Amino acid sequence: MTTRPAFAFAPDGIDPSTVPARTLASGARMPCIGLGTFGSDHVSHEAVAAAVLESAAVGYRHFDCAAVYGNERRIGESFRAMLESGLITREELWVTSKVWNDSHGRVIEACRQSLDDLSVDYLDLYLVHWPFPNFHPPKCDVTSRSADAQPYIHEQFMRTWRRMERLVEMGLVRHIGTSNVTIPKLELILRDAEIPPACNELELHPHFQQPALFDYLVSAGIVPIGYSPVGSPARPERDRTPEDTVDIEDPVIVEIARAHGVHPAVICIKWAAQRGAAPIPMSVTRRNFLANLRAMTEDPLTDAEMAAIAGIDRNCRLIKGQVFLWKDGQSWEDLWDLDGVITPA
Ligand SMILES: NC(=O)c1ccc[n+]([C@@H]2O[C@H](COP(=O)([O-])OP(=O)(O)OC[C@H]3O[C@@H](n4cnc5c(N)ncnc54)[C@H](OP(=O)(O)O)[C@@H]3O)[C@@H](O)[C@H]2O)c1
Repeated sequence: MTTRPAFAFAPDGIDPSTVPARTLASGARMPCIGLGTFGSDHVSHEAVAAAVLESAAVGYRHFDCAAVYGNERRIGESFRAMLESGLITREELWVTSKVWNDSHGRVIEACRQSLDDLSVDYLDLYLVHWPFPNFHPPKCDVTSRSADAQPYIHEQFMRTWRRMERLVEMGLVRHIGTSNVTIPKLELILRDAEIPPACNELELHPHFQQPALFDYLVSAGIVPIGYSPVGSPARPERDRTPEDTVDIEDPVIVEIARAHGVHPAVICIKWAAQRGAAPIPMSVTRRNFLANLRAMTEDPLTDAEMAAIAGIDRNCRLIKGQVFLWKDGQSWEDLWDLDGVITPA
């Protein structure tokens, strides 16, 4: 039997009402920074759950979860502790989860499982984690390929999306969204959806700014949620290639960080939020997640600093998705429709 952790506000925390929000097309307001919860293979479920609880104590209200992270049950214990303390209401929290690739055909059951694990009776946002229904085992090597892997098949994706829409009708989910999609895919989804995506989660950091997709989302009224906003410095070796660059070592970021007296990671997060994204940095280190939240409320970057960071894009995608490729001889670029059309089967 596990003992329920206790919850109390931290005296050095930030008043959550001072943290800016992103307004979704529905009018709902989502805190502009969320805590990422993907511990990958180096941060335990317990450590992530403890960070969720402690980050709420310092003022976080937005949490980016996913079934495939394997830790939703532990995180649910932290949510229960917050809610049972009576200090935070469910309405004050913003809880995101994502349906994993092996559950596109059973979205409603997968969502019910996440609700149960997270100890909440609705989600604020539920995302289709990847637009491919391809299973691969957690922690597998990048060369791993699923025997029944498939490309993006729009009709099939829309069957999944109908199930997502049904969740909204059932009251289990307030908003639905996409993740890891491209403009060509979004054009089809927006054409055919009854409920358009409220948000899209995408990789965004100073060395991977995705300006065309970012602008497309904003003009379509879809809120961009930026993942790996620090450049995922602790990602496992299998997710690294020799060409990858390091945002927090970029001289422009380092110099701006020195001028503001903060860690370069904080500058990446400030830039993301001031650009209009909602960054979701992962952190289990109290000093770091508190600094990231504080960065939303004080000492903004100047226009010149924002412009300098806009100039350091390296088009360096870190989460390439190799494990989702569906036939031999492909390269990861085939997942991302780089020539503006969906890569055919
Ligand atoms: N939709 C998707 O397909 C998708 C894909 C990838 C990620 N995500 C989401 O995005 C979240 C964040 O992405 P990520 O985990 O890849 O990478 P990230 O947030 O860019 O980087 C996390 C790393 O940065 C460090 N860090 C954070 N704030 C810091 C600070 N102020 N100073 C120094 N170091 C700092 C953390 O260390 P400490 O823990 O020591 O602070 C941690 O090792 C994930 O957890 C997940 O929720 C979604």
